[in-house]
Amino acid sequence: KHPAGAPDKDLAQRVTKVGIIGAGLMATQFAVLFVRRLRVPVVITDLDQTRVDQGVESIRAEIDKLADKGRISSDEQNRLKALVHGTTDKADFADCDWVIEAVFEELGVKQDVFADVEKHVAPEAVLATNTSSLSVDQIGAKLEHPERLVGFHFFNPVAVMPLIEVVRTPKTTDVALATAMATAKNLRKNAVITRDTPGFVVNRVLAKLLGEAMYAVDNGTSFSDVDEALSSLGLPMAPSELLDLVGLRVGAHVLDTHHRAFPDRFYDSENLHKLADYGALFEKDSKGKIKGFDKKALKIVSGGKSPL
Ligand code: 3HC
Repeated sequence: KHPAGAPDKDLAQRVTKVGIIGAGLMATQFAVLFVRRLRVPVVITDLDQTRVDQGVESIRAEIDKLADKGRISSDEQNRLKALVHGTTDKADFADCDWVIEAVFEELGVKQDVFADVEKHVAPEAVLATNTSSLSVDQIGAKLEHPERLVGFHFFNPVAVMPLIEVVRTPKTTDVALATAMATAKNLRKNAVITRDTPGFVVNRVLAKLLGEAMYAVDNGTSFSDVDEALSSLGLPMAPSELLDLVGLRVGAHVLDTHHRAFPDRFYDSENLHKLADYGALFEKDSKGKIKGFDKKALKIVSGGKSPL
């Protein structure tokens, strides 16, 4: 059954201040987008001051890059930077009317994050999660007002990828959904409303691609051969490049979620989990082309016999 269509635009609430929970790779990228496109204050938090400071630092560096490329003036560069405020005090979220989280992909962690943030924000504030594969409805399980929760799934690199998947749960109100659609539009992204199913639309398909690529690798084809074979299809990125972009941990999580939800349909790779746990990195040649994993990482999978 197709989800209900987009609600009446007039229901959208104005977003005047954005709260971001998590100051990692995704969160900092979309923080830049929020200040640049909405021109509203953005407050960002994480577990400790060091993470917050690093996050704010990378947001500022991205804003500087925009100025260096001539995309924004130096006045704008300063204005945008001044809109970003890092904090460890959730009281700073009190007047946010849009709060989005991009913390570790673990259900319990996300549930607690929202239960906590709900204590600090106004009852009308819309809450959004950037989860890539978890159930949005379950993420809202500890909320007093789960009807204001919506999925708002960005893609990496956030500045370039045109899509946001807006996920409606059975409880999401038209107001929350309309606000999410309007926000996506104001961020100059295409929004697609999806049902709250594992992987939504895009990651469901990517899980198939990455899973089958890992299946081939785990069964004796080298990673570079899989990459080369698939690049003939004209994909923007080969499987290893995609894994490098999103990170092995996220890649492993996407496979795990889909395999758990549909064990007969999706492959999960033990090797990928081992590599992610180890913190393996791809080795690249001087042009940045991926050659494979470093030797130490290879030793931890299949006793070094893996063709990775
Ligand atoms: N981070 C930030 N910006 C990046 C980047 C990165 N890793 N890679 C490229 N860019 C920027 C460049 O700086 C450039 O910006 P500019 O126009 O302001 O200078 C712009 O992207 C274009 O870069 P290139 O000229 O190098 O263009 P390419 O032709 O190499 O394209 C790409 C780069 C757009 C990233 C292209 O390779 C692509 O579309 N790849 C597919 C990405 C993809 O599938 N993403 C989805 C991942 S899944 C996901 O995120 C969901 C999650 O839940 C797992």
